[in-house]
Amino acid sequence: MSVCNSTSESSSSTRGWLVHGLVLAAAVAAAAGAHVALALRRSGRLRSRVVGIIPARFASTRFEGKPLVDILGKPMIQRTWERTKLASTLDHVVVATDDEKIAECCRGFGADVIMTSESCRNGTERCNEALQKLAKKYDIVVNIQGDEPLIEPEIIDGVVKALQGAPDAVFSTAVTSLKPEDALDPNRVKCVVNNHGYAIYFSRGLIPFNKSGKVNPQFPYLLHLGIQSYDSKFLKIYPELPPTPLQLEEDLEQLKVLENGYKMKVIKVDHDAHGVDTPEDVEKIESLMRERNIS
Ligand SMILES: *[C@@H]1O[C@H](CO)[C@@H](O)[C@H](O)[C@H]1NC(C)=O
Ligand SMILES: *[C@@H]1O[C@H](CO)[C@@H](O)[C@H](O)[C@H]1NC(C)=O
Repeated sequence: MSVCNSTSESSSSTRGWLVHGLVLAAAVAAAAGAHVALALRRSGRLRSRVVGIIPARFASTRFEGKPLVDILGKPMIQRTWERTKLASTLDHVVVATDDEKIAECCRGFGADVIMTSESCRNGTERCNEALQKLAKKYDIVVNIQGDEPLIEPEIIDGVVKALQGAPDAVFSTAVTSLKPEDALDPNRVKCVVNNHGYAIYFSRGLIPFNKSGKVNPQFPYLLHLGIQSYDSKFLKIYPELPPTPLQLEEDLEQLKVLENGYKMKVIKVDHDAHGVDTPEDVEKIESLMRERNIS
């Protein structure tokens, strides 16, 4: 309960953004009109069955055993899972892992676990393998990064609703305002979107690039957040699509989606990103949680 209470402030502002995104999605759907109705009738349903998958691997070059790291008395993976369970759009939540220790820990706090092979090269592949192993069929898969223990459930619901509201998109994700000090950090991925909230491009460089060559303090630059949801039919072909030139150049997997001509819906949320990438990040996140009275 304290988890929910302590974030009520950021949650309410998140909702503000999301409503905007959803209204936009509805407007797009309305504009697409008969075409959308036809597409829906053909598929017979709005992609309604949704599974949230939290991929977690033990081996990591930068941070061995990361999912199990203790954050104020709970393993990080448990914190992520607890947040995810609060999302209202998910029919099912599972942890997908290749590691018995992680699996055991997750079963211990009540999570459903799917064992995936060690050969999965990344989270998307792990999600795909987990999806194939699930007994039930799902229309949408949400890939929830295990290293964002403060993820708001509203953001998860937001990306799901965005994808459901945009039948022409196969993928949805979230962005937030980029802090000026992160403008030139290549580990912070920037995004530009069109007037209808579809992604145009993602880059490790600053986009758009101001003519002066300097960061424009007035421009609302967007930072990409790790959460993404996919149409489950698309997820099956996604890992097999051959790498594309822009994807390889930027080392950004999601560019493959755009380069192949698929549409990606983007919602803007109010979220302070606190990813845990290194052991040093744990201390940062703990002091932040103490500050905000999250236990
Ligand atoms: C670039 O940034 C400045 C502020 O630093 C802004 O006034 C200007 O409109 C931006 N665009 C161009 C083309 O200069
Ligand atoms: C993840 O693996 C798939 C291959 O299955 C590949 O197409 C994709 O680019 C990889 N993504 C990253 C970030 O390495």
